[in-house]
Formats: sequence, C-alpha cells, structure tokens
Amino acid sequence: MYNIAVIPGDGIGKEVVKATITVLDSLDIDFNYTYAEAGDECKEKTGEALPNDTLELAKKSDAVLFGAAGETAADVIVRLRRELNTFVNLRPVKSLQPDKYGNIDFMIVRENTEDLYIGDEYETEEGAIARKKITRFASERISDYAFKYAKDTGRKKVTAVHKANVLKLSDGLFRDSFYKIAEKYPEIETNDFYVDATAMYLITNPLDFEVIVTTNLYGDILSDEGAGLVGGLGMIPSANIGDDNGLFEPVHGSAPDIAGQGIADPAATILSACMMLDYLGESESARKVEKVLIDVIQEGKEVTPDLGGNASTQEMAEYIASKI
Ligand code: NAI
Ligand code: MG
Repeated sequence: MYNIAVIPGDGIGKEVVKATITVLDSLDIDFNYTYAEAGDECKEKTGEALPNDTLELAKKSDAVLFGAAGETAADVIVRLRRELNTFVNLRPVKSLQPDKYGNIDFMIVRENTEDLYIGDEYETEEGAIARKKITRFASERISDYAFKYAKDTGRKKVTAVHKANVLKLSDGLFRDSFYKIAEKYPEIETNDFYVDATAMYLITNPLDFEVIVTTNLYGDILSDEGAGLVGGLGMIPSANIGDDNGLFEPVHGSAPDIAGQGIADPAATILSACMMLDYLGESESARKVEKVLIDVIQEGKEVTPDLGGNASTQEMAEYIASKI
C-alpha cells in the first residue's frame, strides 16, 4: 500500500485531481489517500497558504499528488519543492497528437531549488532587488541528473540553457558545471544555447532537442513554451524528485479563466500520476494508463474541448478509467 498526500489546491487543481484519482482507482493498486489543504482558499480560511500539517503530511507520505495553487503559488508549490528538497523538476514535452503537432518529444530538466526562485527580494529607495543564487553543488547535481536521465532513457544529446553572456558569474558557473559533468558521459553529445535563442529554436527546430537542462526560471518559462508546441498546458505533467520525496503536479496553474466549468483537460495531471507510478516502482501500470490516455486522446471522442471534444473533465476521466 502507498500513502499518498493529495493536495488539490485551487481552481481547476481540484477538478483535475479528482479526475486523476478516478483513473488511479481503476488500477489494481492499493492507495491510501490523505487529503490536505493549501493555496489561496486555504489562506483565506486559515490565514496560511501552506499549513504546517500539510507540509508534515507531504514529508512523511510516499508521494505527493498536487493540483494547482493560485496567487499563493510561490508560498505553496515553490516552498513545497524546496522544503521537500526535490531538486529536480522533470517536465516532458511530448506530443500526444503527432498528426497535429509532429513528433515533438524532449525532456526539460529544471533545477528546482535556487536561482531567482529563492524569493530573496527586498525594497530599495529606487525600487526593488531580487537576488539570484546559483551554486556549483546544485548546478553539478542537476547536470548529472540530466546526463544520467539521458543515458537511462537512450537519449543521445543534452543541451544546457543559460544566459552566460550577460550573467557571467552565475549562469557562467551553471554552464561550466554542465561541461565539467559532461566529461563523465563521453557517449552523450552536448551543446548549449542562450535562453533567448532557445525560445526561438524550440519553435523553429523543436525536433533537435532531446534533453534540456536549465536553471529554475528558464525551465519554468520554457516548459510553458513547450506546452504551446504540443497543444497547451492541459498536456504537460511534471515530477519533482529528491532523495527522499516525490511530488507530482501538472505544469499549469489554477486557470481561473476556466475554473468551475468542468472543462479543464485532466491529461497533464493523469500523466503526472503516471510519473508518480514510475517513482513508486509501478511502471507497468504507468505505461498502461499512458497508453489508454493516448488512445482516448487520439480517438478524440470523450475528451475535453482543448482536445477537440466536448466531454467534461470528469467524463473524460471516467471514460479512461472504464478502458483501464
Ligand atoms: P495557468 O496555467 O493557470 O493558465 C494559463 C492558460 O492555460 C489559461 O488560459 C488556462 O485556461 C489554460 N490552461 C491551464 N491548464 C489547463 C487545462 N488543464 N486544460 C485546459 N486549459 C488549461 O496560468 P496563469 O493563468 O498564468 O495563472 C493562473 C493562476 O495560477 C495564478 O494565480 C498563478 O499564480 C497560478 N499558477 C500556479 C501554478 C502552480 O500551482 N503550480 C503554476 C502556474 C500558475
Ligand atoms: Mg510555470
């Protein structure tokens, strides 16, 4: 039995998590779910966006399934990733509708603990300053993860993304750490690009990318761009992984523009649950859910509007569950 902390959060977070649990329940695996609160609504109710109980539950569970927070995202999800020391954020950008978007398939390996996301901001007389933290330790650790991932999954190339021409010391250190670690993996091809150029190459040459390793902020931005390449944010899952914890969540936020309408695409969260199954050692089930999900999306009948159908979030999930 697996103890899973479930944090639906705000807006569509609640809807896509409910749908994902419906899918997980169709598997022959014993999950013990404990629900916990966090996010905007939780803050309004309790005064805290991430209550201690929620944090403690997340720490002691076998894995965490997270939906989305709203305006409190920095205090909830960014803090959770840091407190759980999940130093890697894996964000696969894979086209599930190759007829529509081509065979795009690359992995973004995002550093998850430092960069501008340490949230060290302060006011000055003229305005405000935010500090960006890049350490040799975290840069080498994330590079090593990216190379190991490439090796284990049969990918041939790892691309580092940075802005070392302007941020010579911080991003320069990130790039140098990447090439230092690369020496351990002579069989893997390497290159590096500035983040601005990468933003263009992802559109002009998306098939050239296999594994991207980058710092926290660039990884955040490029993964939403990646979502745009393959049909939108409803499709991109993520896994936050550390030595002792795993936290799984869609890349998207609480989507107030569509919240409450029951039309959010649950695919990103279902795929995040597949990454959770892999993490728990249930890879056979992960592949099964993935396959059914892809078949359902390609069939295009019982799917949400962003996928060309008119099913609700929950109807799509129930259809997937019935096929499993
Ligand atoms: P968002 O990811 O919530 O939405 C961006 C756009 O994508 C919207 O048009 C939305 O309708 C669409 N979209 C997102 N998920 C979808 C899905 N599953 N199916 C169909 N369409 C989907 O980002 P936005 O609008 O910038 O932020 C909204 C709120 O979410 C903000 O309060 C923000 O702070 C928070 N946020 C939280 C995150 C988290 O908890 N991990 C991540 C990103 C934003
Ligand atoms: Mg983001």
